Amino acid sequence: MLSLGIEGTAHTVGVGVVEDDDGRCRVLAKVSRMYHPVKGGIHPREAANHHAEHLPGLIKKAFEEADVEPGEVEVVAFSQGPGLGPCLRTAATAARALALSLGKPLVGVNHCVAHLEIGRGTTGCGDPVLLYVSGGNTQVIAFANHRYRVFGETLDIGVGNCLDKLGRYMGLSFPSGPAIERLARKGETYVDLPYTIKGMDVAFSGLLTAAQQYYDKGVRIEDVCYSVQETVFAALTEVTERAMAHVGKDEVLLGGGVACNRRLRSMVKTMAEERGASFFVPDDSLCVDNGVMIAWTGLLMHKSGVRMRVEESFVDQRFRTDMVDVRWRR
Ligand code: ATP
Ligand code: FE2
Repeated sequence: MLSLGIEGTAHTVGVGVVEDDDGRCRVLAKVSRMYHPVKGGIHPREAANHHAEHLPGLIKKAFEEADVEPGEVEVVAFSQGPGLGPCLRTAATAARALALSLGKPLVGVNHCVAHLEIGRGTTGCGDPVLLYVSGGNTQVIAFANHRYRVFGETLDIGVGNCLDKLGRYMGLSFPSGPAIERLARKGETYVDLPYTIKGMDVAFSGLLTAAQQYYDKGVRIEDVCYSVQETVFAALTEVTERAMAHVGKDEVLLGGGVACNRRLRSMVKTMAEERGASFFVPDDSLCVDNGVMIAWTGLLMHKSGVRMRVEESFVDQRFRTDMVDVRWRR
């Protein structure tokens, strides 16, 4: 079965084409474009205009890269939420138009669930605890009672958002995660930062303010980045370990853009090894927002019998992970 997916929850618009290879995800095409704000944070309307401008070209390119005819695709999937309203509506409109013109079924996908499913589909893990770390989201998710439940999450901002805000404050370009990772490698001195954990939840805004103050006081940027990474990633590793013990699972999976970070990977991997658990992370290009994860999750949903009429395909800015009826894992 072939599926095409359109991602457009925030700054990235992406199109993916995948094939079901005996339960594993085979990627046939993966194309995307990222909106870079001229100044400051993401402007939802401008990001949506960016997506609208690039979608026709990206869809065409995806078919070429996959080397399939549009009519061969059996389902058209799109990111239904959570995300920024104008961006979601743009991706959904493109998906509806494509599905209707091809006469193929349409399916709306939860973006957070897609970050998890692409890990299961490409890394070979079965029933993991997912540490989902991106710009807007920070959640610890596991399957329980037919749903993906959120066992822990950020009480304020997403970890990627924390890194991006700090980066912008220190004059780095957006998104700042990769630059902070490079600078942190040259860090030598650890400066004390607030470490906020409540049960399996985390919070980062206090740490962000403290890090900005260190920078203002002249602490080397390398040391600020190093200290922030060590503190934030230790907190995330700790809550992930707590969730693994709580739900009794012995696989851990990373997902979301921040999962590209090598220091975070090594901390979570060490934790897993010490517990006798297995560690998994998808390819970098599948950690960040992408159309492939939407195509793959749409394929799983369609195969399990999920059907959606165009009238039901409205987007949901606050689409929660645990709202999805996970029929494909019964
Ligand atoms: P979501 O809609 O799931 O919240 P998102 O819109 O934030 O996702 P992603 O592509 O999943 O998009 O993640 C982007 C985030 O990942 C940015 O905040 C960016 O700084 C961060 N990031 C990317 N690479 C790295 C890295 N190497 N180290 C740390 N953070 C990174
Ligand atoms: Fe994402």
